[in-house]
Amino acid sequence: MATEKTFYLETFGCQMNAHDSEKVIGTLQQEGYRQVDQEEDAGLILYNTCSIRDKAEQKVFNRLNDYKKLHKAGKRFAVLGCVAQQEGEKIFERAPYVSLVSGSASYRKLPAMLARLEAGETRITGLDDRQTDETFETEFTARQNPYRGYITIIEGCDKFCAYCVVPYTRGKERSRGSNSVLAEAQKISDLGYSEIQLLGQNVNSYRDPEGKLTFAELLAAVGQVGGIRRVRFTTSHPRDFTRDIVEAIDAYPTLCDHVHLPVQSGSARVLKQMAREYTPDWYLERVSWIKAARRPISLSTDIIVGFPGETAEDFIETMDLLAQVEYDCVFGFKYSGRPNTPALTMIDSIPDVEKAQRLQALLDRQREIQRVNYAKHLGQVMEVMVEGMNPARGQVTGRSSQNKPVNFTCSQPIAPAPGSYAQVRITATHPNSLVGEAV
Ligand code: SAH
Ligand code: SF4
Ligand code: F3S
Repeated sequence: MATEKTFYLETFGCQMNAHDSEKVIGTLQQEGYRQVDQEEDAGLILYNTCSIRDKAEQKVFNRLNDYKKLHKAGKRFAVLGCVAQQEGEKIFERAPYVSLVSGSASYRKLPAMLARLEAGETRITGLDDRQTDETFETEFTARQNPYRGYITIIEGCDKFCAYCVVPYTRGKERSRGSNSVLAEAQKISDLGYSEIQLLGQNVNSYRDPEGKLTFAELLAAVGQVGGIRRVRFTTSHPRDFTRDIVEAIDAYPTLCDHVHLPVQSGSARVLKQMAREYTPDWYLERVSWIKAARRPISLSTDIIVGFPGETAEDFIETMDLLAQVEYDCVFGFKYSGRPNTPALTMIDSIPDVEKAQRLQALLDRQREIQRVNYAKHLGQVMEVMVEGMNPARGQVTGRSSQNKPVNFTCSQPIAPAPGSYAQVRITATHPNSLVGEAV
C-alpha cells in the first residue's frame, strides 16, 4: 500500500515569503501531498526562511536541531527561502538530515525537485544566484489568508543597499506581465476576495515586460477589476516613487489610502553610505506629493538605527524627519550586519546598548506622534474590513483603508465574517489602534 504523502510547512519573514508559501503549498498539493499542522505528523518538513536581520540563519539551524530526531523516524527536511539561497550547500554540512535546499528563484522547479526527493535523493538544490529571469507563477496557489488575495508583481531586487541581503537571496529584479497580473486579480475576485495586495520588494519598480502598463496604470487597472473593493501595494521604494501613483489613488476609490515608503534614515550622509540613492529632500518631496493628495493618504515607513558610522547628529536628523512627516506607523530596526553585504566591511562602530537606546528614543517619539494622529479619528465613521475576532474582549478586529487597526463591538448576534465590511464610529483612540462600534 502506498503511504500518504504529507507535509508541514512553516513560514518566516515578509509578506512575499507568506505568499510564496501559498504557492508552494498549492504546488505540493498538486503533487499529491496533504498539509498537516504538526512536524510530528508530516513526512516532509519544510521551513520557508528569512535572513533579513539578527542572525536569522542561526534561528533556522536551532529550529532544525530541535526536530532533527524526527529524521530517525524517516522524515525528510527541506529549507526554502532566503536562508536557503544564502547558505546554500553549507546547510547540508551543518544539518546533514536536510535533503532539499531551494531559494525562491527556483520554485518553478519544485515539482522536479520533489520527484527527486521521492526517488530517495538527499542533496537536492535549487540555488539561483541571480541568474534566472523567470517568475514563479502557478495556477495552484493555495490561498491561506481569509480576507486578502496576494499577487507578487515583481520579484528580486537590483538596488543593492549596503546593508541588505535581499539582492543576494531573491535574485535579480524581474516583473510579471500585466496581462497575467490582471488575470490573477480577476481570479482572486472570482474566489470571493474583495481585497488584493500587490507585492514586490520594491513594488513600484515594476516594469511591464509586455510594455503595456506603468505601475500607476497597473494599480488603476487592478482597482477596476469587478468585485475588488480594496487594493494595497507594498513596499514602495522612494527612488521609483512617481507622482502618478498619488494621482491614481486620488482617481480610483478602490486604491487604499496608504503608502508604505521606507526612508531608513533622515541623514543625507547615512543615506549615501547606505547606497539608498536619494537624499532626505528628495524623499520629503515625495511625501509632499502624498500629503497634497485629495485623499487622506496615510504614510508608514521603515527606519534603521545604528548603521555603521551613524553619529548622534545623524540620528537627530532621523528624529527630525519623523517629526516632520508625522507617520502613522514606523517599523524601527537596529542595524545588523548581514552576510555578503558591503556594509559588513564598514566598522560596526555603535555598541548594541547605544543602538537599543536610539531605537527606544525613536519608538517613544513615534508613539507620541501616533497618539496625536490617531486621536484625530475620534467621532469619525469609517469603513472597516473585518479580519477576525478578539474573543477575550468581545471585539471584532479589522482595518481601515489607511491600514489602521480598528477594534469594534457590534450588536449582531453573529460576528461578521473575515472579509466583510462594517461602518464603524470611532469612540476611543490609542497610539496603535482605534476603538469603535458598528453603526
Ligand atoms: N525593499 C524595501 C525593504 C525590504 S526589507 C525597501 O527598500 O524599502 C524590510 C526592512 O528591513 C528594510 O526597509 C530595512 O528597514 C530593514 N532591514 C533590511 N536589512 C537590514 C539590516 N541589515 N539591519 C537592520 N534592518 C534591516
Ligand atoms: Fe534591500 Fe535595498 Fe532592495 Fe530594499 S531596495 S530589498 S532595502 S537592497
Ligand atoms: Fe526575509 Fe527574504 Fe523577505 S530575507 S524579509 S523573507 S525577502
